[in-house]
Amino acid sequence: MPPIAPNLVAAVDQARHWQDMMAMAELGGFTDPDGHVGVNRPCLSDLDRQARRLLLGWAEKAGLTASVDRLGNLFLRHEGTDPGLAPVLTGSHMDSQPNGGRFDGIWGVIAGFEAVRALREAGVATKRPIEVVAWTNEEGGRYAPGCMGSMAYAGFAPPETWDGVTDRDGIPFGQALKALLDSESDIPRRKLGVVEGQAPFAYVEAHIEQGPLLEARDMEIGVVTGIQGSRWFIVDIMGKSDHAGTTPLALRKDAVQDMLRAIQALNTLMHDPADVLRFTVASIEVQPNTSNSVAGLARFTIDFRHPDNAVLQARGNAIEGVIQAALRHCTARVTERFHAVPADFGALVPDAVEAAAKSQGLRHMRLPSGAFHDAQFLVPLCPTGMIFVPCRAGVSHHPSEYATPEALAAGTRVLAQVLADLANR
Ligand code: GLV
Ligand code: MN
Ligand code: MN
Repeated sequence: MPPIAPNLVAAVDQARHWQDMMAMAELGGFTDPDGHVGVNRPCLSDLDRQARRLLLGWAEKAGLTASVDRLGNLFLRHEGTDPGLAPVLTGSHMDSQPNGGRFDGIWGVIAGFEAVRALREAGVATKRPIEVVAWTNEEGGRYAPGCMGSMAYAGFAPPETWDGVTDRDGIPFGQALKALLDSESDIPRRKLGVVEGQAPFAYVEAHIEQGPLLEARDMEIGVVTGIQGSRWFIVDIMGKSDHAGTTPLALRKDAVQDMLRAIQALNTLMHDPADVLRFTVASIEVQPNTSNSVAGLARFTIDFRHPDNAVLQARGNAIEGVIQAALRHCTARVTERFHAVPADFGALVPDAVEAAAKSQGLRHMRLPSGAFHDAQFLVPLCPTGMIFVPCRAGVSHHPSEYATPEALAAGTRVLAQVLADLANR
């Protein structure tokens, strides 16, 4: 670790950084009935476009060069003294959950931008280029699954994989992506990740913790060691719609009743006394969705996570059989639409984060991530890591999500030092 550059740490401007965060939060900002200020900024929406334009304006002023790839991943480049070297990549995502907060994702992008701006203002040259990336559709809120931009970048799935996925209004992902790219035709196109271009030298992503550990232990910086695995499924229970007042139970193929049986059986499959396993059913659609018609179709989602790949595979692979066995009158179709194995960040980036936190006198601890992140898909490509900062009560994916200006600035100072370190290796 090179000696700490005090002018670099001082160049991270807490007030300016917070102002940028709050300016971004206005794009999609809303106040919920409890008075919490949240953000609803779906990927590839007009609001997303506006947020990207705002960032592009700041980047231009700071002297960074913008480019965009065919998945809409947006890059801002700080040139290295040796431009041919593989860049250090940092960033996160700008889309939010529908009932989301002001920090999830967007902070990692603005932290990357502030860190690079600070490097430039402090006159800290780097041998390697540094690129700040805003990945397309991390949340999976409008188009499922999440992490489409980083998955395509990493060659995890072909770029056209999700073109036909529709949002609630029936608009296909491919169409919304084309509209975004058409509106950004003034931005130079770049090759798509390692599929068409060069792997980064390293990737580091800053993010709010989205859990309670750092706050509970009075820590300022989380040195993230890895990310647990996630699998997403969509389950269609197919029955028959009938008149609710006249159809005897014996003749019904009631999709809601069989969905309840299926979920009950899944709760048993996923039971974990140690409370490590995460199993969530959180989106349910019923057709025809009227109170006096038996449901002919019930569709529900499964979000299943575990840090141990053996458990992730064994229980995940058992889902379909457990559902089929639980049904009494209907049939089911189970489709897996996201599968991210647990990721281990190894030593290089976590050690750099830890060293930076230590040299800045910040209280820090190592911890894994329960949430998934784009970083997960960079692991096979290059040394990867994340920096967490505490958020209030660990709350995220909700308008009450909050991190203090001080917490964010501390994370960004660590990020700036880590970028300077990695980009001079
Ligand atoms: C990311 O938003 C996740 O659901 O973990
Ligand atoms: Mn996020
Ligand atoms: Mn999120």
